Amino acid sequence: VLHKATAPFLQFGAVGALTLLSWIIFQSFNAFLIALIFLVVSAAIFLCPLLIKSPCLIAVEELPEKPKLIGHRGAPMSAPENTLMSFNKSIECGVLAFETDVQISKDKAAFLMHDHKPGFLERTTNVKAKFPHTTFNQSSDVTLNFLQSLNAGEWFLKTDPHQTVSQLSAEDKMTARNQVIPSLLQLLQLAKQHEISVIFDLYSSGENDTEITVDIILDSGINQSLILWLPPHRREYVKRRAPGFIQVYSNESDLINNTGRYLNVAYNALSRDKIRELRRQNVSVNLWVVNEQWLFSLLWCAGASSVTTNSCHLLKDMEHPDWVMTPSTYMAIWISLDVISVLIMICLYVIQL
Ligand SMILES: *[C@@H]1O[C@H](CO)[C@@H](O)[C@H](O)[C@H]1NC(C)=O
Ligand SMILES: *[C@@H]1O[C@H](CO)[C@@H](O)[C@H](O)[C@H]1NC(C)=O
Repeated sequence: VLHKATAPFLQFGAVGALTLLSWIIFQSFNAFLIALIFLVVSAAIFLCPLLIKSPCLIAVEELPEKPKLIGHRGAPMSAPENTLMSFNKSIECGVLAFETDVQISKDKAAFLMHDHKPGFLERTTNVKAKFPHTTFNQSSDVTLNFLQSLNAGEWFLKTDPHQTVSQLSAEDKMTARNQVIPSLLQLLQLAKQHEISVIFDLYSSGENDTEITVDIILDSGINQSLILWLPPHRREYVKRRAPGFIQVYSNESDLINNTGRYLNVAYNALSRDKIRELRRQNVSVNLWVVNEQWLFSLLWCAGASSVTTNSCHLLKDMEHPDWVMTPSTYMAIWISLDVISVLIMICLYVIQL
C-alpha cells in the first residue's frame, strides 16, 4: 500500500538520482550498450507518472468524507487495552464505535479480554503474580468475580507496549494502575450513555455463548442499532432474536450472500476501486487496523467509511489527508522536473565532451 502513496514522490527522487548518475554514464558514453540502456531507463523514469494512480491525486471536491474512527480495544496507546479507561479515552477521540473482544466466564457472564489461548490472562493481568503455580486455560475456568479481582492495568505501565507511558499524566498513570477487567455489560452501559456503537469478536468456548451474549445485550437496554454484530457463528439465530442489530461481514462473499451493508476487513484487502464500488452500492467499509497518519490519509482518499485504530489520538485532529494533490498540480511538477533534469543532463554532456 505504501507504494501507492509514495509513488509520485519516488519518481521525483528517481529523476534526481538519474540526473546525478548521468554524469558518470557520460564518462563512458562511447560504450553503445551503456548509452542505450541509460536512454531507455531515463525515458521510463521520465514517463512513469503516466501510469501512477495514487488515490490522493484527486481534486479537493472529490475528496471523500473523513473516515470515522473505531477504537481498537479502546485507545490502547493511551490506556490499558479493553479497560473502561481505554474506552473512556476513545470517547475523547469522538469514536463511532468501541471495538472489543468478548468471552463468557464459568458463571455465564460476558467479559472483555482479547487473549483466549491457555494462559490467556497472563499478558494483560497480574494473574501470574497472584497465582504463580496455576495456568488458566480458558474463560470457562474462571468466574467474573475472580476475573474482577485481578489487576488489568499495572502490566501496561510495566511493559509499555506502545512506548507511550512517558506521555501519560500522573493522574492517568494512577487511573491506569487501578483498572480491572470490565464486563460486557459495563461497556454496553457506557456505549448506551454516549450513543457509541459496539463491535466485537466473540471468543467462544461454550455451546450457548452466542445466546448468552445476545441476551446480555438485549437486557442492557441499549438501542439495537448500536450493535455491529460480527461473529459469523449462529448469525441466523442472531438475526431472528435481535433483528435490530447491524450485521457486519468479514469478507465480500459473505456480505453478498447475505445482502449485507457492512464490511469489516484488513486495510490491505481491498483496492481503491473496490472500495469505491462498494461505497457506490451503499456498503459501509471499515478497515482494520490503521495506526499511521500516512496510511489513514491513503484510505481516506480511497473512500473508506471508517477505520479501526490504536491511535485515535493521532487521527482525530487530522483535517485533511497528507499528500493530497490535484492531478494537474502533479503533472505540472513532474513535467517541470523532467525538463530541468534533461537540461542538466545536456549541460553535463556538453561539459565532458
Ligand atoms: C467468509 O466468511 C465466512 C464467515 O466467517 C467464512 O465461513 C467463509 O469461509 C469466508 N469466505 C472466504 C472466501 O474467506
Ligand atoms: C444508496 O443510498 C442512497 C441514499 O440513501 C439512495 O438514493 C441510492 O439509491 C442507494 N443506492 C443503492 C445502489 O442502493
